[in-house]
Amino acid sequence: MIIRKAEFIISAASPSQYPNTGWPEIALAGRSNVGKSSLVNALVNRKSLARTGNTPGKTRIVNFFNINDRLMLVDLPGYGYAKVSKEEKKAWGTLTETYLNTRGSLTMILLLVDIRHEPSADDAVMMDYIRQSGRDTAIIAAKADKISRGEYNKHAGIIRTALDPYGSVPVIPFSSVRHTGVEEVWSVIEKTIKKRV
Ligand code: GTP
Ligand code: MG
Repeated sequence: MIIRKAEFIISAASPSQYPNTGWPEIALAGRSNVGKSSLVNALVNRKSLARTGNTPGKTRIVNFFNINDRLMLVDLPGYGYAKVSKEEKKAWGTLTETYLNTRGSLTMILLLVDIRHEPSADDAVMMDYIRQSGRDTAIIAAKADKISRGEYNKHAGIIRTALDPYGSVPVIPFSSVRHTGVEEVWSVIEKTIKKRV
């Protein structure tokens, strides 16, 4: 994918603020701190288009990024971050659910998990949700630079067993630090978009 344009559009706190371009949207879901915002930056080869950070809970609302006036990357708040109040957790959950449940142009949901760890119960719930939504998906095994290449298959296998026992969903090792997997992620996105038109 050649990136001619990548621009932040809006942080939307409610559906009335969602952009109405009608372009297909690719949403990024996953535990807080797993690397969703870093993936946006890696995909468009920019250092800080999306805000990232060491403190989990960096992304708090639904962020839309225009890619080539053709599709939208949608960075969602992460789940499973223990150190926020119940009220705040609920508010983020509601924002994410509202987006995922109501957005007609949502075409694909990329589920990010940490390549080093077994997926959590929350990840399994998210995967079930994605499956039931009927949207296309791929599992991104993030922070792949934290293990050696020789270990990719073993770890991808553990993730697949937990989330996709029938093996129908691509599992893509990805590193925002080394840009591993960038082409593979664009390729699953392109495939989904082409299917849609
Ligand atoms: P929330 O917005 O809180 O949901 O987090 P997020 O999923 O958007 O994570 P973010 O991209 O902000 O990254 C969290 C931390 O992980 C940051 O310190 C990043 O630098 C680091 N990180 C992200 N991707 C990678 C990666 O591929 N490799 C390594 N080593 N660190 C990464
Ligand atoms: Mg984020």
